[in-house]
Amino acid sequence: MIRFEPHTDRRLFEETLLFAAAQTRRLIETHPGLYPMYTEQGRWSHEGPAWTHWCDGFLPGLLWIFERRAAPGSEEASFWLNKAIEYTKPLEPRRFDREVHDLGFLFLSACYRWYLKTRSPELNQILIEAGQTMALRFREPGGYLRSFVGENSLFIDIMMNVGMVFYAARETGDRGLREIALRHCLTTRKYLVRGDGSTAHEGLFDLASGEFLRQTTHQGYRGDSCWSRGLAWALYGFSISYEYSRDPRFLVTAESCADYYIANTPADGVPPWDYNAPPESRKLVDTSAAAIAASGMLRLSRLLSDPIKGHFYWSTAMHILRSLCENHVARNDPDWEGILKGGVYHLHKNLGVSESVMWGEYFFVEALEHVVR
Ligand code: GLY
Repeated sequence: MIRFEPHTDRRLFEETLLFAAAQTRRLIETHPGLYPMYTEQGRWSHEGPAWTHWCDGFLPGLLWIFERRAAPGSEEASFWLNKAIEYTKPLEPRRFDREVHDLGFLFLSACYRWYLKTRSPELNQILIEAGQTMALRFREPGGYLRSFVGENSLFIDIMMNVGMVFYAARETGDRGLREIALRHCLTTRKYLVRGDGSTAHEGLFDLASGEFLRQTTHQGYRGDSCWSRGLAWALYGFSISYEYSRDPRFLVTAESCADYYIANTPADGVPPWDYNAPPESRKLVDTSAAAIAASGMLRLSRLLSDPIKGHFYWSTAMHILRSLCENHVARNDPDWEGILKGGVYHLHKNLGVSESVMWGEYFFVEALEHVVR
């Protein structure tokens, strides 16, 4: 069980944010124009393969967060603003990218933050078009947005991207888009979230009939195990889907994933890469899952009408963040270019294991920014 300590440590979080800003500045100054995914021995620039291209929104997303934190009108604010625009603009053509299921990761992290600052109709149109492209992944038999690996495949990660479809539906009033987003969430809830709140990474469907066949995985330990990052994506993603739809089933699902996380994660709040891996393997943690879970729980805590429950998730998020700041931040390793050590991308392919990973950096900073605001 997670230890419950309902106090905050604002100074620790603010110092960590300063370190995060310095490391992000170091990344863009040392490797200009690079959109990295994971470090190798702490270095961002390397020839390691990507598996799939889903991460390019996270670096500009960090730049937008630091821009928002800087004093308005300061030299620092203008530095972050120029860099944020420079790194966000090249993503715009990807609103038509049909190769990946990650348009929420790409556009909600970066372009949406820019839109919130300017309310420009052109940026809104880009977001709408990204949502419309995302909706083209919908498979009528089965009722889900298909993953990048095939027509018959549904990933838990897509819960972080279906928000793009809800967004486009809301902005255009297109009920068909909203129906697609709702059906995707209901299918994911039915087949990938288990009764105890744990999640499967992938579901496979019969192509002709749409019948659900089985749970399986790419990045987790086994088809019937609980890959911790997938659980964190579900916790966060069902919270977003509830924000858009107000369908109470999504709130219940987000809570049930959060409760599984809390009940099964060691006392320091940082989970093993997979909850059901063998004991030796479970010593390998994934700090990126912890960062996503903390940010997701902060979001979830705002949505609950019961203040005791809301406070419980909020305090748990604080506990996770404190633990990450105290034990996993790279501040004592001057050679390390990332912010947060101990992320895991793809263990079976040996990509980014015990490294800094770009989504870990982004959700960690997002959560910290939220609690010091
Ligand atoms: N592709 C999403 C993840 O690795 O979590």
